[in-house]
Amino acid sequence: MTTHFSALRGKNVILGVTGSIACYKAVDIASKLVQAGAVVDTVMTRSAQQFVSSLTFRSLTHRSVVTDLFDAESDDAVEHVALALRADVVLIAPATANVIAKIANGFADDALTAVVLATNAPVLLAPAMEGRMWANAAMRQNVSTLESRGFSFIGPAEGRLASGEMGRGRLEETSTVLNALYEAIGGGSAGDLAGMHVVVSAGGTQEPIDPVRIITNRSSGKQGYAIAEAARDRGARVTLVTAPTALTDPDLIEVVKVGSARDMLASVESALRAGADALVMAAAVADWEPASAAGQKMKKTWETRMTLELTKTPDILATVRELPGVKVGFAAETEDLLGNAKEKLSRKGLDLIVANDVSATDAGFNVDNNRVVILDRDGAQEELPLMSKRDVADRILDRVRGIVDARR
Ligand SMILES: Cc1cc2nc3c(=O)[nH]c(=O)nc-3n(C[C@H](O)[C@H](O)[C@H](O)COP(=O)(O)O)c2cc1C
Repeated sequence: MTTHFSALRGKNVILGVTGSIACYKAVDIASKLVQAGAVVDTVMTRSAQQFVSSLTFRSLTHRSVVTDLFDAESDDAVEHVALALRADVVLIAPATANVIAKIANGFADDALTAVVLATNAPVLLAPAMEGRMWANAAMRQNVSTLESRGFSFIGPAEGRLASGEMGRGRLEETSTVLNALYEAIGGGSAGDLAGMHVVVSAGGTQEPIDPVRIITNRSSGKQGYAIAEAARDRGARVTLVTAPTALTDPDLIEVVKVGSARDMLASVESALRAGADALVMAAAVADWEPASAAGQKMKKTWETRMTLELTKTPDILATVRELPGVKVGFAAETEDLLGNAKEKLSRKGLDLIVANDVSATDAGFNVDNNRVVILDRDGAQEELPLMSKRDVADRILDRVRGIVDARR
């Protein structure tokens, strides 16, 4: 799945990589940055090259990698100064104890430290080292010197360290590093949904019959994930409440994983009670659940028929109807699309309903495109042509934005 952080698109990011065992994680960071559309220039210290080859970064970023102050892959003798000047942000991940000490003291004896001295861009350091090194008095002093000069630290995290010991010193998770980078370049305050909290549900709920069997549906979760990502890219804080899907967790989004319709109700309700501006219910929530799930796996018998008694699941939209926020529902229908959608819109007290015909083969379940009609309370119908789920997401969010504005 492509990661979209619009604020990173076209931004010049210098990725500094230093000699820590956590270097392999910098490869993932580089890959995610490139996917987000950033222009990534990697600057590696000599020690970092003991851990990962420059070829790895060159292949991922499609750009030359600076490995030595005197031996830049480009013929440009002032390569480090040119890089420093055009950088929008410098991220050093992992940052060793050594590089932190050198930067704190103004050293410039390799390409990376020279870039840091020469740049006006924000510099973020994601340290990785043994807990004792991070706790050392010299390190404490270096960190506070750098913080007082405006450098930002991302982590380190607590957990299992390369030595096998537990402690503070782990390189932060890629998503946390990217989140901090995104904030540093103003991603969180950019976009027309900045300041909004959007709750999105996705996927098909799973209703247990017994510990191994479930009732579920064909929802892939793609439309809900596209809405969550589009809202994030437009600056919203996003909570994605998702039933199981085959999709990767999107970065910079709070992902709440649920199973059944009841679990989804509890998580959606608590996200809304925490304060949300909009709820987009793109999940395919089961209408029925087994009246009682068996505690043990049900045994095969010689009977040719078996009856499963079902009861109605709680209606999520009806339950949260009185909570503040714009409510958007989906109507997945195989017949009388608009009639059924209108009835659902008024019965559930929604602001908008997105109707889609899931019997079509080029749109709807498990494909990347959708063809929908957006209906509102005033009876207006916006019929959209076949388009990507991402584009459908943006059209829905345009309407949500309009309703939020009108209520302000
Ligand atoms: C196997 C191995 C793992 C290392 N891991 C780390 C580490 O996680 N953090 C750290 O600060 N230093 C670590 N070091 C020590 C640094 O590589 C060493 O201090 C080096 O001088 C750092 O150079 P640089 O900051 O220019 O990359 C490690 C060394 C070895 C041999």
